[in-house]
Amino acid sequence: MEEKKKTPGNIRLLAIETSCDETAAAVVSEGRLILTSVVASQVDLHAQYGGVFPEMASRQHILTIFPVVEQALSQAHLDLKELDAIAVTRGPGLAGSLVVGVNMAKALALGSGLPLVGVNHLEGHIYSAWLDPDPDNAGGQYAPPILPLVALIVSGGHSLLILMREHITYERLGGTLDDAAGEAFDKVARLLDLPYPGGPSIEKAAQKGNQSAFHFPRARLDGSWDFSFSGLKTAVLRQVQALKSDGRSIPVEDLAASFQAAVVEVLVEKTFMAAEQYGARNILVAGGVSANLALRRAFTSQERFQVFIPPLRLCTDNAAMIAAAGYQRFTRGQTDELDFDALPNWPLA
Ligand code: KG4
Ligand code: ZN
Repeated sequence: MEEKKKTPGNIRLLAIETSCDETAAAVVSEGRLILTSVVASQVDLHAQYGGVFPEMASRQHILTIFPVVEQALSQAHLDLKELDAIAVTRGPGLAGSLVVGVNMAKALALGSGLPLVGVNHLEGHIYSAWLDPDPDNAGGQYAPPILPLVALIVSGGHSLLILMREHITYERLGGTLDDAAGEAFDKVARLLDLPYPGGPSIEKAAQKGNQSAFHFPRARLDGSWDFSFSGLKTAVLRQVQALKSDGRSIPVEDLAASFQAAVVEVLVEKTFMAAEQYGARNILVAGGVSANLALRRAFTSQERFQVFIPPLRLCTDNAAMIAAAGYQRFTRGQTDELDFDALPNWPLA
């Protein structure tokens, strides 16, 4: 990282995100105000395979990246030369997907002379909570989270508990030992024959189910901040097999509700315990799984902590969150050289 101090003013970043199966670009002012956020989802393309097909994702990013970036700039009525920097997701993610966004950002930086800021995708999920959730709020009423905070990042690839005492500094308290929370949702959806993507399908089925119908195990892993969801997934599988071998029908909605309740309970309990133990002022929940309404309700139906959970459109992958994180790096003088590479396995802490 090259150190270059810049005095904050009305700083505007263009950000690009292509770590998985969304091609996204956004223009954000002051790391807080979304001027435009364009997300081209490939979900329909991958649905036929029941999961993200990496080569197809990469090819689709190549096709979509130019129009997506152009749209983000034109809707913001801004030219590259009116911006201050370009942020891009450097990792973690699919190598062939990341490289499309990184190369696009490099080309734009080279052509415009704007500085380049490489952002960790998970850091982006965290900073989604700094984005003003009200798109019309130009008056600056939104109060972002207060540090120190405990962040729970739950996505398709990660379940992480992070202590954040200062900006862009992350202490890893724990993470999943096996399946990520989103991965567990996706796998259980598949074994219940629910459509891809699994998270929203389970949530929808669970709304009509009884969460006490089955008691699935809660892996509390006392004494550690780690999570484990593979035992829970296996328990659902065994239950389905047992019902099938008895010739009984599969109560998909009850199974989905009981599974979801087990995931939510463990995530919420551990996050509150960590927040208490580390004296957090706030809690932050981010990543695709934080779109889950049962999880959101469990976190917000208490008064011990103020819990920040971004609005649904900012929970799943987008580039506005990358701009928000990029802003924090950029205003601290952290920019990258044009020869930097994508880091598919880049850990947050
Ligand atoms: O953050 P994200 O969009 O992409 C990654 O960085 O992984 O997260 C995607 C994950 C998927 O596993 C998806 O099933 C899950 O988030 N997800 C949900 C919901 N919406 C998305 N899980 C539970 N309930 C939801 N409503
Ligand atoms: Zn993500």
